[in-house]
Amino acid sequence: MYRSLMLFFMAFLGIFSGEYNPSTQEMQPVTTESPVIIDAGNSLASIQPTMFGIFFEDINFAADGGIYAELIKNRSFEFDDPLMGWSQPVSNRWSNNEASGFASAINVGGDAANGHFLRVQVRSEDGYVLMNEGYRGIGYQAGMDYHINLLGRVEEGHPGLTLELLRADSTVIGSAELDLTGNVWNQYQATIKATATERKGRFRIRFHGLSVVDLDMISMFPADTWKKRKNGLRKDLVQMLADLHPGFLRFPGGCIVEGRTLEQRYQWKKTVGPVAERTTLINRWNTEFSHRSAPDYFQSFGLGFFEYFQLAEDLGAEPLPILGCGMACQFNTGELVPLDEMDPYIQDALDLIEFANGPVTSDWGGVRASMGHPEPFHLKMIGVGNEQWGSDYFDRYVLFTRAIRTRYPDMKIVSGSGPFAEGEMFEYGWDELRKLDVDYVDEHYYKPPQWFFEHAGRYDSYDRHGPKVFAGEYAAHDPLAEAPLKKNDWRSALAEAAFMTGLLRNADVVQMCSYAPLFAHVEGWQWTPDLIWFDNLRAYGTPNYYVQKLFSTNKGTDVLAMTRDGKPLTGQNGLYAAATMDQTINELILILVNVAEQEQQVPIKLMNAHALSAKGKKIELKHADLLAVNALDDRDQIVPKESEVIIAGPEFTMNLAGQSLTILRVKME
Ligand code: AHR
Repeated sequence: MYRSLMLFFMAFLGIFSGEYNPSTQEMQPVTTESPVIIDAGNSLASIQPTMFGIFFEDINFAADGGIYAELIKNRSFEFDDPLMGWSQPVSNRWSNNEASGFASAINVGGDAANGHFLRVQVRSEDGYVLMNEGYRGIGYQAGMDYHINLLGRVEEGHPGLTLELLRADSTVIGSAELDLTGNVWNQYQATIKATATERKGRFRIRFHGLSVVDLDMISMFPADTWKKRKNGLRKDLVQMLADLHPGFLRFPGGCIVEGRTLEQRYQWKKTVGPVAERTTLINRWNTEFSHRSAPDYFQSFGLGFFEYFQLAEDLGAEPLPILGCGMACQFNTGELVPLDEMDPYIQDALDLIEFANGPVTSDWGGVRASMGHPEPFHLKMIGVGNEQWGSDYFDRYVLFTRAIRTRYPDMKIVSGSGPFAEGEMFEYGWDELRKLDVDYVDEHYYKPPQWFFEHAGRYDSYDRHGPKVFAGEYAAHDPLAEAPLKKNDWRSALAEAAFMTGLLRNADVVQMCSYAPLFAHVEGWQWTPDLIWFDNLRAYGTPNYYVQKLFSTNKGTDVLAMTRDGKPLTGQNGLYAAATMDQTINELILILVNVAEQEQQVPIKLMNAHALSAKGKKIELKHADLLAVNALDDRDQIVPKESEVIIAGPEFTMNLAGQSLTILRVKME
């Protein structure tokens, strides 16, 4: 005790020039290497609150079957195969029609958004049975209420329905009865409490009484959605996003914006208004990869543009919608809208701004208000095109900017630079965008870890007066991680951390960045790696998730100069670093990445740092095995660990574990 007190006071008085680690009660010696010098008195650039954000795309069952908490697959019978997801148990399948009954999807024709419904003819006193398989099963929590809503109409007889929550082995873990009456569409509701937990359950409807009954929009949500909203989101998954404190939310993608064909592009107007009237669309990732085909992947748009704006608001993130620009995905058909037929596309962009910000008396502001949000969503940025390249893009892009800037001069526009991080098309894109004096250029890079290690200085030479950068999609893809899974191993996360110190150091140029993609269902993925993995009840953060979280929650407000031998740390001796100050709470933040296998003791010298508080917080993310991963059953292999350190005056040594990301926060007094 006496020794600790002595050490504390000596450290506080600056007698020791070293880092004291209370857990080991040892002073670490100052090394003789040249120090890392940080000028704490000089802000080089402001860090935008938007700096670290999130990229959301409905890929890997991120929306339907993921964050969108609907548990019934194909609730409105609008998939290309209208009965997909629904099945009859073998016991009545072969006798279908003759003995027990018959289920068929009826197409009402025309261009109704919800053009199909289910007709069930119950022909046996024993009744008829239908089952929904959910998204790779249905997750039930013991004790949780499940709200079921459906539209029903009786054509003949007096049908009764038993609704049942089933375990994988068909045990019933909750049920409710419904009597249907009247031959007009009526809304029916039931709430069932699950008596057991099951990750791969199903939902069953038993029909009783000789009858003919029509059903539609058969929907089931858990009661505990995020903020308990009816058409809500999965609470655990949204919480993981909230924990990132994202500066922005980019939505709805990604390639999904463009579609494989123009017909299949994302059309935001078809995703707002009453949920039953939103038009289901095939998900472009349904057929994209033959080795991971997902024939049951459709977009119900229950999570539509209103819900995206609402999510951004809940997260305290700036909304950033990306719109198609009259070009289908150039990796697929690359279909083009002729230049003289672009008006509806441009009108969609103008109407979207009105939907987000317009008064309730405007057409689209009125739609927003009718959905329960009369206040504006304060949209400040909009993206035109996703991963487009070549002159066709710029021909179309200028039509958008002209119209948007004329009507909404303060709206910032995000423009794409294509899928390439360098090379001819990338350079051509940047040249064009520079000429057009655009606000933000969206850059994408999916590269091996080595590329990230080698490019931490990428933005050091960017023009400080040109367009700002939005590193809108990036992820390290480790070829050494298990193929084809390309797991989120520690090497990939470490590479991203090293690279991200370069993003932060260049916060005057890079004003937004986001890892991609965000979510993946462990049984429904098409693309890896991904930031957050989940099954029907559980989720875990990858090491990459914790890297994002540590940067986002420790970014500070101002970049400080941090050099060794007069140069920024971009990999010399395996070290990468950035220093910032959080002016709002007067805290110095050091972010250091040691990619070397061995521990390093790094002497630090603070310039213009007057009175340092003796106590600091150290956060470490590390693992000795670069191939280590987190998993659903082993979520905490690589998670941040916090400890208290005592910093002795303006010169001290930091111990950086091998293969680690270390953050030090020290209060300035
Ligand atoms: O993030 C996955 C995909 O990668 C995105 O949809 C697309 O923009 C990029 O090619």
